[in-house]
Amino acid sequence: MKEPSLTLTVYFNVLWIVSNISEYKYFMNSDLLTATNLSKSVTLGERRIDIIKNANLSIEAGDCVMLMGKSGSGKSTLLGLLAGLDYPDSGEVWLDGKNLTELDEETLAKLRQTDMGFVFQSFHLLPTLTVAENIAFPLDIARKPDNGRVEELIQAVGLEHRADSLPSQLSGGEQQRTAIARALVARRKIIFAEEPTGKLAEQHARQVMNLLLDFQQQSGTTLVVVTHDPSLTTHADKVIEVVDGVVSGSVV
Ligand SMILES: Nc1ncnc2c1ncn2[C@@H]1O[C@H](COP(=O)(O)OP(=O)(O)OP(=O)(O)O)[C@@H](O)[C@H]1O
Ligand SMILES: [Mg+2]
Repeated sequence: MKEPSLTLTVYFNVLWIVSNISEYKYFMNSDLLTATNLSKSVTLGERRIDIIKNANLSIEAGDCVMLMGKSGSGKSTLLGLLAGLDYPDSGEVWLDGKNLTELDEETLAKLRQTDMGFVFQSFHLLPTLTVAENIAFPLDIARKPDNGRVEELIQAVGLEHRADSLPSQLSGGEQQRTAIARALVARRKIIFAEEPTGKLAEQHARQVMNLLLDFQQQSGTTLVVVTHDPSLTTHADKVIEVVDGVVSGSVV
């Protein structure tokens, strides 16, 4: 029988190595969240507005990822899609092996309670609960013990003197710090935060960002932070830019 030519042998060896590398990469893939070909539009009368245009991104477990872009570029809409708060028109969002775009509202709501923490742009504090009760709320609904965690977080965000106040009795910055503490009280896989330092003076902004980053380091939580503040990007493992609904990623 004729021996295979050297070129052919080299070709098959290279093919074998390449296929093994891609398999290895697949097993080593540490992405917690991926979005593929994500699109979202709204229709206003006769007009269709494309808000998110064919977005692709991936976020590794344990990373701090910042979403940046001008006002109106689509950051909040994108965050809502990534967190399963809204369904895309097309495309998929996978969180920890689950395709969020295929889950019903009820399953998504449960997943948000068990796996996600949120700091919303408008805080969404419960108006009839005090600061301490708002912070404890995620533990209460999950029927988890407090173990001093609420007190610890109240101190970490500097709200000891406001623990018994209602949200309506707080300043914007104090409401924001309450929302941050609430997002961190139960240890979640991923925290989505919109402008978490937007309402804070410099000293509190630094304190809150350090709190978020310490939490990320200690519990291996993934942070997805929407911000306008370029100085925060020094803490980011990845910065994702949104320009007029188009997403581009850059590693810093
Ligand atoms: N429900 C809606 N109906 C119509 N237009 C919408 C709707 N939601 C968002 N938009 C539009 O989509 C664009 C992106 O909005 P989005 O709130 O995602 O921007 P953003 O980047 O978060 O802005 P900001 O930095 O000001 O919070 C804006 O032009 C907005 O007006
Ligand atoms: Mg926004």
